[in-house]
Amino acid sequence: MMNEEIPNLTAFDQAALDQAFAAVEHQARNDAAALDNVEALEAFRLRWLGRKQGLLNEISSRWLKAAPSEAKKPVGERFKILKELVERLLDESSGTGPSDAALAAEAIDITLPGTRRLTGAEHPITRTLNEITSVFAALGYSVGVGPEVETDFYNFESMNFPPGHPARDTQDTLVISNQDRRPLRDRLLLRTHTSPVQMRTMETQPPPVRIIIPGKVHRNDAQDATHSPIFHQVEGLCVDTNITFSDLKGTLDHAMKALFGSAVKTRFFPSFFPFTEPSADVQISCIFCGGKGCRKCKDSGWIELLGCGMVDPAVFRFAAEKQPAYDPKKISGFAFGMGVERIAMMKYGISEIGQFYAGDMRFLSQFS
Ligand code: DAH
Repeated sequence: MMNEEIPNLTAFDQAALDQAFAAVEHQARNDAAALDNVEALEAFRLRWLGRKQGLLNEISSRWLKAAPSEAKKPVGERFKILKELVERLLDESSGTGPSDAALAAEAIDITLPGTRRLTGAEHPITRTLNEITSVFAALGYSVGVGPEVETDFYNFESMNFPPGHPARDTQDTLVISNQDRRPLRDRLLLRTHTSPVQMRTMETQPPPVRIIIPGKVHRNDAQDATHSPIFHQVEGLCVDTNITFSDLKGTLDHAMKALFGSAVKTRFFPSFFPFTEPSADVQISCIFCGGKGCRKCKDSGWIELLGCGMVDPAVFRFAAEKQPAYDPKKISGFAFGMGVERIAMMKYGISEIGQFYAGDMRFLSQFS
């Protein structure tokens, strides 16, 4: 123990004091030389400077207090120097930090390759959907959504597909089971198009309306290279006073140029949809051959891209049941609907619709 390390002094003359202090000084330097971590440093501090058991405390009580009065001064001077030395040794050792060996044991090899975190990217369908939406948002359209599980009323009846109408058969509808006891209009189904959101929008807000509706739709279609039972559409609706077919043409011509490039031309072909009259199919000049004719456009120079038309007065009459301002004598409007997968496939040169849903990173990472 410490008592043994610090012997009692038998003489207090200069030579005896020099020798005694030199011995503890030597001990302090030896102790300090071995310090290579924080624990050892703390042990050194306790051993030398500890309040009760520290060696300096011991020296003070054995040598200083025991000194005859004429020796108090020389012992005191030497004690002061020793204390300063111990404190300096402690300070210096704190600065030197751990030894090389201790450092090597904890070292991190910063040249090793790290764990790379993949940055997410928008799915090509989401990206195309957002692109289409923002073209119309820039024209002042607001963005709306509706439910994917829809009633027969919104999906069909209010869109002017009367019960039993043959146009219903073109939609390959997936219905929810056990709905037979409900009135037809309340029966639930998976919406076959985003058009029912036209009605939901008009029922809740009076004209004028300019809205773009992106969403998922479902059809009982077999999957092939260009068909999937679940796909996406973007619906548009514009209702105001004096909206004409020219407004429809101008709007869609602008949108197609914004989506496919300003060189693209559009043309409108007569078509049929129950909820528009007149109805049209929009074709764009083939973006692959510029209209000269190629395999992609079946040598026609044109590609059919979306359906549109002037909102049928029958649709406005359904809306007027909740919002009388949709009086077909006072207002008019146009609507359009497009398939997002089809547009994305054209924009990115994708030939298999299944690629969108397969979750294959080799495909998806090309869009990051
Ligand atoms: N709902 C139609 C479909 O799924 C697409 C469509 C055609 C929407 C013409 C419209 C429109 O709003 O005016 O085939």
